[in-house]
Amino acid sequence: MKLIIAANWKMHKTGSEAKEFCLELLQKEDDFRGVEVLICPPFTALTAAAGVLKDSSVKLGAQNFYPGEQGAFTGEISAAMLKEAGVEYVIIGHSERRHLMGEEDSLVARKIAAAYENGLKPILCIGEKESERDEGVTEKVLEKQLSKALEKLEPEQVKSLVIAYEPVWAIGTGKAASAEDAASAAGFIFSHLDRHFGHESAAGVRIQYGGSVKAENIGSFISLEHIHGALVGGASLEAGSFGDLIRAAGKAVAS
Ligand code: PGA
Repeated sequence: MKLIIAANWKMHKTGSEAKEFCLELLQKEDDFRGVEVLICPPFTALTAAAGVLKDSSVKLGAQNFYPGEQGAFTGEISAAMLKEAGVEYVIIGHSERRHLMGEEDSLVARKIAAAYENGLKPILCIGEKESERDEGVTEKVLEKQLSKALEKLEPEQVKSLVIAYEPVWAIGTGKAASAEDAASAAGFIFSHLDRHFGHESAAGVRIQYGGSVKAENIGSFISLEHIHGALVGGASLEAGSFGDLIRAAGKAVAS
């Protein structure tokens, strides 16, 4: 199964900064063999990034979209707008959207369904807060987020899904989950998918780990049985070190 490493830039980089980053990253493209690499810039930098990436193996993702075709949704962006900008993947339900912008499971579910209807590939983010881990309800939280988000999907659709397991307490804190905790969450996600959608669909899903991933620790996650990539925030903002991270991931899987 091909690894998928995605850069989540959040609210960082203008169009010209995105262009500069992509030009620098592509100098290392030969190192990316065997890894699907994806850049998710802010909306306003998508076109600039697409211009540089169009003839390369590096793909483009968006960080969000609204599940309506068009209409009176001030400030929102549709799937068609993203696709015309060259977007292939879309991050859905990131913890910053859930916890800072109040995005509920029901909206996450609508976005997942709309992404499939419109030919965008979703990256569904799930993960527990620190207080939930302390209370011992991590699996309960993951179960609820998964079952709500996927309730409108058929097994055939689930097969191509990417799920990012991102414990909220590990995001942007420098305190990554232990390989043991990541392995247990990924194993739980896999068995949930297996139970609800069947083995073939579960086996097609790529599960990423996210939360303070960097070149130095990516290998410990990638070598786990049910983890097939990473969603990277802070360590994706500099082309040189992001390139090193991708190379380290490729090496970890080959070894
Ligand atoms: P981080 O962010 O790598 O900066 O922890 C990950 C994410 O939010 O996707």
